[in-house]
Amino acid sequence: MKAFHLTDTTGIADLHLMDVPVPTPARGEVLVRVRAISLGPIDVNTTNGHGAYHALQDAEPMIPGWDISGEVVAVGPEVLDFLPGDAVFGAVNFPGPGRGYAEYVAAPARHLAPKPANISHAEAAAASLAALTAWQALMTTANVQPGQRVLIHGAGGGVGHFAVQLAGERGAYVIGTSSASKRVFVLSLGADAHVDYTRQRFEDVVPPVDVVLDAIGGETALRSLAVLKPGGLLISLPIGLSPSLLAQARARGVRGQHFLAVSNGEDMRRLAARLAAGTLYAHVARTWPFAQLPDALCQVAGGHTQGKISVLLD
Ligand SMILES: NC(=O)c1ccc[n+]([C@@H]2O[C@H](COP(=O)([O-])OP(=O)(O)OC[C@H]3O[C@@H](n4cnc5c(N)ncnc54)[C@H](OP(=O)(O)O)[C@@H]3O)[C@@H](O)[C@H]2O)c1
Repeated sequence: MKAFHLTDTTGIADLHLMDVPVPTPARGEVLVRVRAISLGPIDVNTTNGHGAYHALQDAEPMIPGWDISGEVVAVGPEVLDFLPGDAVFGAVNFPGPGRGYAEYVAAPARHLAPKPANISHAEAAAASLAALTAWQALMTTANVQPGQRVLIHGAGGGVGHFAVQLAGERGAYVIGTSSASKRVFVLSLGADAHVDYTRQRFEDVVPPVDVVLDAIGGETALRSLAVLKPGGLLISLPIGLSPSLLAQARARGVRGQHFLAVSNGEDMRRLAARLAAGTLYAHVARTWPFAQLPDALCQVAGGHTQGKISVLLD
């Protein structure tokens, strides 16, 4: 089978297509014929030796990639919930070795859910790690409640566009930040208010909030402390929170929390139910052919994706 493997850590150009044996599903795994792969900043960062690189570096060949949608073609021992022919999707082995940039992936069945029939493989792959992150951050960690105010930075991006919808489902008042080009998109997802970060400092216009979900990091995370209510929670996704930021949070009487999404088939089933019901929507801005996966990653690296970018396999 064809797979992209990573040969160095200087960036996307270190990804190369190669022929490797089709993997054999181990105990608890299914073999998935991949029909779509979705990509995000973690994929780009991994090619630079950051992101999830350290989880992959002992693998030979080193095949990155986590978000897949496809069909089960074989099941390993002790798999009870999937059969050959089932369409499945999920974030595989995140934050470990997913080996998703391949025509076939041996994936733990417990990381997958049945793919809703009403959405495409490109959309299902798109609704994997980004949607799982939004779910685990807002529904599990923050446990957003009706009537709370939630500020979502990067609301038009991969994680953000799912986060806006899920916070809205909980009955929160949702404020999303993005550039002007994504304003209509963010509001169409159910945000109650929008801030164009290129024109306004959000801390000047946003009322005190209960939760900030920050998909940007750096200065944006630091400035977010000022908009939290006493006891409010900041979850910053990019690289966690520095000791100095955590100290400032404590001094202000607010909370900052480290967060890392983890593969979880039960959460994928919760997302699948919403995708099937049409109450959650995965926006795929563009699809690329598998052979152009590095070009797709270059688009992600631009940092202004609307929704998600997916790659299609035959
Ligand atoms: N900790 C975890 O478990 C975890 C899991 C998944 C992702 N992540 C991280 O979370 C981050 C976001 O991931 P993603 O997939 O959502 O990225 P993405 O799809 O690239 O989206 C980022 C969005 O932010 C917008 N943006 C850029 N600068 C902004 C600013 N200053 N203020 C507000 N919006 C801004 C961009 O478009 P516009 O500029 O046009 O608005 C873009 O839509 C990445 O660093 C990723 O590695 C962490």
